Order: sequence, then C-alpha cells, then structure tokens
Amino acid sequence: MKYDIKNIKLAKEGLLRIEWAGQSMPVLNQIKQRFKKEKPLKGIRAAACLHVTTETAALMQTLKAGGAKLALCASNPLSTQDDAAASLVKHDKIPVFAIKGEDTKTYYRHIHAVLDMQPQYTMDDGADLVSVIHSERPEILSGVRGGTEETTTGIIRLKSMAADGALKYPIIAVNDAQTKHLFDNRYGTGQSTLDGIIRATNRLMAGAFFVVCGYGWCGRGLALRARGMGSNVVVTEVDPTAALEAVMDGFTVMPIRQAARIGDVFCTVTGNINVIRQEHFKIMKDGAIVSNSGHFNVELDLEGLGGITKSKRELRPLVVEHLLENGRRINVLGEGRLINLAAAEGHPSSVMDMSFANQALSIEYMVKSKTSFENDVFPVPEAIDKAIAKEKLAAMGVKIDILTPEQKRYLASWSMGT
Ligand code: ADE
Repeated sequence: MKYDIKNIKLAKEGLLRIEWAGQSMPVLNQIKQRFKKEKPLKGIRAAACLHVTTETAALMQTLKAGGAKLALCASNPLSTQDDAAASLVKHDKIPVFAIKGEDTKTYYRHIHAVLDMQPQYTMDDGADLVSVIHSERPEILSGVRGGTEETTTGIIRLKSMAADGALKYPIIAVNDAQTKHLFDNRYGTGQSTLDGIIRATNRLMAGAFFVVCGYGWCGRGLALRARGMGSNVVVTEVDPTAALEAVMDGFTVMPIRQAARIGDVFCTVTGNINVIRQEHFKIMKDGAIVSNSGHFNVELDLEGLGGITKSKRELRPLVVEHLLENGRRINVLGEGRLINLAAAEGHPSSVMDMSFANQALSIEYMVKSKTSFENDVFPVPEAIDKAIAKEKLAAMGVKIDILTPEQKRYLASWSMGT
C-alpha cells in the first residue's frame, strides 16, 4: 500500500485521539454499525480530499466498514493532524497522502496520488478533487459516478462550473444540509476559530475590539462566541440583509476601512478574495492581529502586506510579526490559512458527527440510487437531513413533541382561519 505521511510512529497517539473523537460522534457510529452489517458501499472506490483530522478518520472508518475502498489526501496544507494520518495508515490500512505544512507542490502531488485509484466517487472540502479531475485528469471522468462537497466555498465553485456547463458529474452539496451548516459552520467555526486564535496568541479576548469580516453562518458563529468572551465585536459585510441581521443581533456594523482603525483582532470568514487589503493594513493599530477562517488563504491580501513590510519574524509558532514602513507591527496568524485548523484542531467532534453523517449517507444514497443524476449540484435529500437531526437529538437524550392529527389537518388546510 502506497502512502505519504509525516511519521508512522505517531499512529499510537492518533489511535487514542480518534477514539476520543469517536466518543462524541454517536450518529456516525450508528451508521458505522449498520454499514458493517449491510455493506452498502461494497467494492466502490472513493477518493477523499478532506481535512485530515480525527473526525475525518472516523468518517473513513465508517466508509470502510461499509465496504468502500478509500484514499485520502488533505484539503489544506496546514490542517493535517499527522497522528490521525499515521493511525489511518497503520491501524485501518487506508492510504493517506498528507503531511502538515506540506508545500503547494506536495499538496497537489498528494491530490494526484489519491486520483491514481481511479475513484468512482469523490468527497471534497473545497472542490480541489473536482477541479483537478476536470482540468488535469479528464481521463478519470468517465469512471466517476458522483461526488460530495463539504463546504460553502466548494459549492460556490461547483455551482459556477455547473452554470457554465463545465461540471461533468453530479455532486451532492453536503454543506447545504441543515444539519450541516446550521451547526458545523455556526457553532463549529465559532468555537474552533476562537480556539485557534487563542492557542496561537494566548491574548485576552475580553475588552478587545474583535472584527469579524462576513456575517454568513461562520461569521454569525464567530461573532456570537467572540461576544461571549467579552470582546467588542464589529462586523463588516457587503450584503445589506446580512448586515441588517448583524445590527439587530446587537453587533456594530461598519466598512472595513473604518473597522481597520479600531480592531485589535481581525478574522475573515467571507469566502471572498482580498477582503483585508494593503490600504487597511496601513491604518491598523500597532500590534493588530489578523487571521482568516475562510476556506482559502485568499481573504487577507498578504502580497499587499508584503509590499509595505520592512521586515518580519516568527514571534511564536504560527504568529508572524510584520514590521511596516510606518513603524507599526501587524501579526499574521497561520499564514492566513484557516486558523481553526492551522492552530487548533478544527471543529469539535460533536458537530462533525452531523456533517460526516451527511457525507456517509449521501455517498450511500448515490451508490444505491437507481436513477442517474444530471451533472449538477444537488441537495442532500430532506429525509436524510431530518433523520440525522432525529438521531442526534436521541443521542443527546432530548425528546420533542409530535403533531396531533388535528394539528396536521390544520397545517394542511387553507380554509381554517380565526
Ligand atoms: N472542518 C472543520 N473542522 C473539521 C474537523 N474537525 N475535521 C474535518 N474537517 C473539518
């Protein structure tokens, strides 16, 4: 079996941490038990390009229990947990191609390595497999039956491919399931991003001016949790409705050119490019901390920052201080890559439980489907989404009400009024 990881000796530590993650993943565990018996994925080949974490390891074990043949590479050069990668290779015999801190060339070499298995299904977090298959490995396309996409950024890329008629196989948008984005993007990003910023800097969040760029589900979660830590939270937005929502959620909203002057800590979660630019770095306070928790490292204009930087040094791991021509210092965290995975461990297992239950069940759904899908981006079926919510509640010991027959009739009728 071919693989490329940091150090196989890390497997022992990885095994324990994967067990720890698994303890908070009851929905995925149930799926794994069923997959073990039913083997719904028997013989299929699936390539995954996901953050290589203990939670992803639990997903890989689930798919393998279902009978799938797998290969895994990283969806970000800085997010790999080398011990989880080692454990997957040693204990689960799953080929992994991922090393934390790998350079761009190695990152793409690893993507090609998983594609060498000629996958029938792809699982992406950011659409890199889809993109490389379409642009560099078109010979694989005829064998691919479908794929899944984990994140907002990937879905934006895929929808634009579909709109251009360029997408050559169907994709299920896992991110758009309610049991994914309402929890993973909001509570997962909220907690893990603060965790990453705090682990990297050990700075006090109470009283700090914390600027959140973007008020999508990730921004909402981050703003909520930063407020919980006692920060003065400022939100920047381009969408009037989202901005209005931020205002009514009690946050101060202003343009980035204004926020740049007052922020102590900045974090971008927009999914867009060059959100904090040279003109903003120029007017930031001495010692400002800038970070990104969006999928790609394009949200901070680091080239623009480089253009006004006199010198730089790594002050602490993942903290690079830029001394600017104007004498002020700007601290960039984790090279502008997603800080929740670069400096912390990504979203906690309890939310990844639902995200990865959606992944596992979406793959099963595509494998079992009798009808062929068009080459487009599809939602996770509502029945799967609701079943996951139900299972999660049951695992948490939370009971809810059910509609009475009268209530069902009321909801179905248009004639009843006051
Ligand atoms: N994305 C965000 N957090 C993650 C985690 N813990 N595992 C895999 N992907 C993630």
